[in-house]
Amino acid sequence: MSVDIRIRNAVKRYGDNTVIDGLSLDIREGEFFTLLGPSGCGKTTLLRMIAGFNSIEGGDFFFGKDRINDKDPAKRNIGMVFQNYAIFPNMTVKDNVAYGLKNRKVPKPEIQIEVDKFLHLMQIDQYKDRMPENLSGGQQQRVALARALVIKPSVLLMDEPLSNLDAKLRVEMRSAIKQIQNSIGITTVYVTHDQEEAMAVSDRIAVMNGGVIQHIGRPRDLYQRPANLFVATFIGHTNIFDATLKADASGSKIVFQDGSSVEMSNILSSERHDQNVKVSIRPEEFIISTDPESQGIAAVVDDCVFLGLNTHYFVHLDDGTPAEIVMESEIDREIPKGARITLAVKKEKINVFTEDGERNIVSGVRNDLEEVS
Ligand SMILES: Nc1ncnc2c1ncn2[C@@H]1O[C@H](COP(=O)(O)OP(=O)(O)OP(=O)(O)O)[C@@H](O)[C@H]1O
Ligand SMILES: [Mg+2]
Repeated sequence: MSVDIRIRNAVKRYGDNTVIDGLSLDIREGEFFTLLGPSGCGKTTLLRMIAGFNSIEGGDFFFGKDRINDKDPAKRNIGMVFQNYAIFPNMTVKDNVAYGLKNRKVPKPEIQIEVDKFLHLMQIDQYKDRMPENLSGGQQQRVALARALVIKPSVLLMDEPLSNLDAKLRVEMRSAIKQIQNSIGITTVYVTHDQEEAMAVSDRIAVMNGGVIQHIGRPRDLYQRPANLFVATFIGHTNIFDATLKADASGSKIVFQDGSSVEMSNILSSERHDQNVKVSIRPEEFIISTDPESQGIAAVVDDCVFLGLNTHYFVHLDDGTPAEIVMESEIDREIPKGARITLAVKKEKINVFTEDGERNIVSGVRNDLEEVS
């Protein structure tokens, strides 16, 4: 039986160093939930608190209605997969997978049925009598996953399970993990610092920075309407510009450093006043024009990189600010280096933040962190 996880005001200290200070979080039953953030932000620390491998200096952790703060890790009914596989090198694949069931004194015939089922599910049946040293990294990681799942845990915890694999295998394994999680429907907490991996596998993602959750939402919520400047720059690629918001009864517009402006219709009503802002424009949110008559931000092309489907243009604005633009490649047409261009923006897509970067002032931000009371 899968459960929901509720964390309230969690505090973690290592000696005098407080790395998590009052963190609250709801993870829904059966969802694939990812903790994403830069190195050292506290992802592993939080995962180990859920698992019971770290002391808890404050707050409450619940699996369903069950407060687990003082529950022995072995009794939490969790499956864990780590970065370095952690399978037993001196046991065959089959015995590795059977280990947790033997420990639980499950009758032998039942062990055999369950082990076969998970070997098959992970597509490692043909290696069942091999020793781990004779398996590839991806195969070993499948054994680790089968071993974690065979005990029918209520929660599956994974800490950077793919980081030791090469790029191609990572992509294959992440869809395998996602598929298996989907078919079993087990509440999963996944840790990664790779934002693309997080987007590919997760139902929802919590972006963390410095022990603090910044934004919780679906991948598209984080990418399209990031809650703050940190999330905008951490998820995907973006260009950030200093600008001013000019607003009055008739409307609001963003004025860039060169005086060019964009009329905006989706600025929050509470924010419609003159203020300095930071504007986030993703590379695909620009439209390049080579027509000298066209309106927009003036720029000069510094470099152009053809990548097949898309062509990336590296440009600078008149004040020297660099920007990256992505356009779908055209047959036989590339804007040459040194060309003067003007940039229009897809204004319904861009995001505008307060000058300190703390808040998105465009409407439509969906942040599930606000539901956590
Ligand atoms: N056992 C420990 N003793 C003291 N400090 C620790 C310990 N474990 C982690 N820390 C500190 O706590 C902070 C969070 O570490 P944590 O391992 O949770 O980061 P992370 O987000 O998992 O990073 P990474 O992506 O590099 O794995 C870091 O500043 C780290 O130095
Ligand atoms: Mg870590």
